[in-house]
Parts: sequence; C-alpha cells; structure tokens
Amino acid sequence: MEITRDKVIEALGNVIEPDLKKDIISQNLVEELKIDGNNISMVVNVVNPALHARKRMQEAVSFTLKRVLGDAINVETVVKGLPAEAKAVRRKILPEVKHIVAIASGKGGVGKSTVTANLAGGLAKKGFKVGIVDADIYGPSMPTMFDIVGERPQGVDVDGEQKMVPVLSYGIPIMSIGFFTDPDNAVVWRGPMAAKALTQMFTDTHWGELDYLLIDLPPGTGDIHLSLVQTVPLDGAVIVSTPQEVALADARKGVNMFQLDNIKVPVLGLIENMAWFTPEELPNNKYYIFGRDGVKNLAHGMNETFLGHIPLVQSVRESGDIGRPAVYQENTIVAKAFDELVDRFVTEVERKKSKKDDK
Ligand SMILES: Nc1ncnc2c1ncn2[C@@H]1O[C@H](COP(=O)(O)OP(=O)(O)O)[C@@H](O)[C@H]1O
Ligand SMILES: [Mg+2]
Repeated sequence: MEITRDKVIEALGNVIEPDLKKDIISQNLVEELKIDGNNISMVVNVVNPALHARKRMQEAVSFTLKRVLGDAINVETVVKGLPAEAKAVRRKILPEVKHIVAIASGKGGVGKSTVTANLAGGLAKKGFKVGIVDADIYGPSMPTMFDIVGERPQGVDVDGEQKMVPVLSYGIPIMSIGFFTDPDNAVVWRGPMAAKALTQMFTDTHWGELDYLLIDLPPGTGDIHLSLVQTVPLDGAVIVSTPQEVALADARKGVNMFQLDNIKVPVLGLIENMAWFTPEELPNNKYYIFGRDGVKNLAHGMNETFLGHIPLVQSVRESGDIGRPAVYQENTIVAKAFDELVDRFVTEVERKKSKKDDK
C-alpha cells in the first residue's frame, strides 16, 4: 500500500489526546509530519508532559498507524508537552464526566454485560448520574437489557457542533454499537471501522454531566481492546469472570492487559459472577457448579481487589431478556448482591483516585 499524507492524517484522526479527550488531528496537535517511503516522523503535543503520558502517546500513534498501514512502516514520534496558554483555550469533550470505567472479561458469556447493566442501575438507584457505552462489537446487548431495541440516537446541535443524544432507559443515557447496525444483519466490524464507531460514541456524543460512564467492552484482549484503551481516557477497569478454570485464565490476561506499561489503567477490582446457583424458592441453598471462589482467589493472588460474588439465579437472566435489570427487583438476594457490589465499587473508585492524587 502506498503511504500518502491523507492516509496518515486519517489514521491519526483516531488517536485521542487523553486529557483533551479529542483526536490529535482536530486539535492541531501534530506538527512537522514527514513521510519518506516507509518512514513517518512527527512531533505530537500533549497536555500531560509526564514521561508515561508521552510514552503512551508514542505507542498510540505507532499502534494506530501500523494497524492501518501495516507493520512495515517506521514511526518516529517526538512527544512534547503543550505550552500552558495553548492548554487553556482548548475545550475538553467530556470534561463533565467524572469517572470513565471499562467493564472487561477475558471470556464471553461470563456476564460482563449483565454486570454492566446492573452496576449502572445500582449506581442510578443511589442517585449517581451514570451513562453506558456498549462497545461490544461482537454482540452488543444493552439494547436488549434496557428494552431499547430498534431505538436510534437523535441528533442535536451543541455550540455549533452536531452531536448524538444517547437513548434513555430508566433515566440512564445509553449509546450502543448496536444502534449503528441492523440487528437482523450481523455486521462484522473491521478494525479501523470499529475503532471509528467506538470513538464516536465518546467524542461525538452529548453526554452532559455524569458521575460514571461505564463501558461494556468486547470479550477478549485483542487489537480492538488495545486501541480502545489507548484512545479512550479510562480511569479504571473492572474484570468479570466466573469461577471456572477456563474463564479464570482469560480473566488473568484481562488484568495483565490493563497493567501493561503503555496502558496502565488502574484495575478497580474483580467480580465473581455465577459464583453459585441458588434456586429462587430455596434462597439459602448454594450449589457451586463452576467451582468455588476461583475469582476471589485469583484477585488475592494478583494483589487486586475482590469486589464481590453474584449468584447464578434464573431471574437475573430473565430480567436481562425482558429489559429490566435485576437490580431493580424489590428485596431479592440478587438485588441485594448488586447493591452491595455497587457500594464496594464506589468505595474502590474513590480509594484509587485518592491514591493517584497523592502521587
Ligand atoms: N448471575 C447470573 N444469573 C443468571 N444468569 C446470568 C447471570 N449473569 C449472566 N447471566 C446470563 O448469562 C448470559 C450471558 O451473560 P452476559 O451478561 O450477556 O455475558 P457477556 O456480556 O459476558 O457475554 C445471559 O443470558 C445472561 O442473562
Ligand atoms: Mg456482553
């Protein structure tokens, strides 16, 4: 493939400046772009001049260009801190979102979306302003779980810019990759297309003021995750797994991904879903069908926080299917389990944040 200036600029349009929360092209952060055969060099300005932040930008630029243009290119990026006056005039895109948290799992089908939906519902019940980005390109499930299948985000003009308005359900604003596709015609999202659609759900969406924006990530730890966690400024990640051996191996990979040097997103904790089966009519009976405490032990072994157990109960599945998250049930063991999970989640977010502020 011939490497043209246009192609390079288009690709760089997917790299987000983590503090400005906008891409480096629209923000005019790229200077001295030179293309000579397979060699590409440039200077990128960033808000945070710390070594790790500069390194992270360097990786994001190289990763994004190689994804689009192939591995044969050489990328040389010098990253510099923006001068203070330049910082002041730039308007951030999601400055009103306090915490952006990804919900991840190594393996599919372990209940990542169920946990996202109920965590959101539980936070909303406690009076927090919370939104959801359903980034699962392989199987978006928020439309079903919140009974908004077939809905589409409306457009709105915000200070002269065209934005999308998330769809509301139970007062929770939701954007889903599922809104961009026809549910009867499964779309196979290719890398760059998916990355673009995903970033649009952050940069081109009018979220307004939020305490928490939860992202339901696709299962796995592939390219799409790396590009997403490198382009979206995440404040933390939660890992969901069942206690089963095969799921745990993948959950460990999930934790490792967030700990990578060029990613370094704090892991808020691990959640053990389907921890035991409990029949609704015998709430005190516990059957450990996927093994016992596997996720709890993994969390302790990796020196990460354990956020709690969620039992396998039929009504959790039913609530998901009818579009009313289980956390909205009245006085059930499941609603109680999710409520407690929400409390620990909030505590952990605040604890990790104060640790970061101390540094
Ligand atoms: N604790 C639970 N009890 C009963 N069913 C559950 C529970 N957690 C998830 N499920 C069901 O298992 C299936 C997979 O869960 P889902 O949240 O879609 O997984 P993922 O997003 O990880 O692929 C769904 O049908 C969901 O309703
Ligand atoms: Mg899912």
